[in-house]
Amino acid sequence: MTRAALIIDCDPGVDDAVALFLAFASPDAFDILAVTTVGGNVDAMSTARNARIVRQMAGREEVPVFVGAAAPLVRPPIAASHFHGESGLGSLPIFEPAAPAAPGDAASAIVEMVMSRAPGSVSLAVTGPMTNLALALRMQPAVARRLGPVVAMGGARSEGGNITASAEYNIHADPHAADIVFRSGCRPTVLGLDATHQVRATPERVAAIAGIDTVPGRAVASLLEFCARTQEALVGWDSPPLHDPCTIAWLLAPQLFEAAPVQLRVETDSPLTMGHTAVEFRLPDPAKATAQWVTKANGDGVFALLADRLARR
Ligand code: RIB
Ligand code: CA
Repeated sequence: MTRAALIIDCDPGVDDAVALFLAFASPDAFDILAVTTVGGNVDAMSTARNARIVRQMAGREEVPVFVGAAAPLVRPPIAASHFHGESGLGSLPIFEPAAPAAPGDAASAIVEMVMSRAPGSVSLAVTGPMTNLALALRMQPAVARRLGPVVAMGGARSEGGNITASAEYNIHADPHAADIVFRSGCRPTVLGLDATHQVRATPERVAAIAGIDTVPGRAVASLLEFCARTQEALVGWDSPPLHDPCTIAWLLAPQLFEAAPVQLRVETDSPLTMGHTAVEFRLPDPAKATAQWVTKANGDGVFALLADRLARR
């Protein structure tokens, strides 16, 4: 497998942390150029600290972490600590990591990494509000066409919203940023709730992860168990969807997913439907697609991939 140069933009966050553990456990597949963090599930300083904690637990402190936007482009921040715990990492022990964040901001780092490398050579996974990518696109619009594969967790069509009736959290948290991204020409593959709700952390799957005797295995088991408890308490789900790791799984094993060309627009004006993703499959010309919308996900395959990678030493 050729190693893909990869930037991971995230708001850890329990499921972002699982996505990071999966990526860090895949050095054969990824040359992780950087982790960039953004305020989202918890505040920006906490998401940056949390990314550094996961990086240290995974033994990958050579990967720089850049601190990103503390607030959305226009609307006020909305956190999701009720799902992720006050720290953002569920019940994982919180400590000040040894390695600091890298100097400079996330958006500038994204521009520099993409523009200094060959066109199409840098992949990007986005698992939080899209503020950093939008700021990078404002700084240098050429980033959109120079990026390689872009995969984002966000949006909802058939499944309805998870933060409001019509919007998924990542898009709702910064709809103006998402609008910039989807209009930019970066042609993302988008894993919305339609896809991630097909990848559930069932008790059996969590038990299999809990049996992995590695630091990442034990950490991910703890994160998934926390997620199951909070989602059961908050929304009555005994098998919570595993959202953000699906982006890394798609990069590692795209055959586990099916997608279709769509035009994707974001509601940015209506208070009632703010952050709603209008996903249009009816395209007179598929070449006019602005995104690939993932319609199917193989949950067993994603968890088998996660378990395999977490078990690696
Ligand atoms: O709607 C799910 C998304 O919102 C995930 O990225 C999760 O981390 C939260 O940020
Ligand atoms: Ca996230």
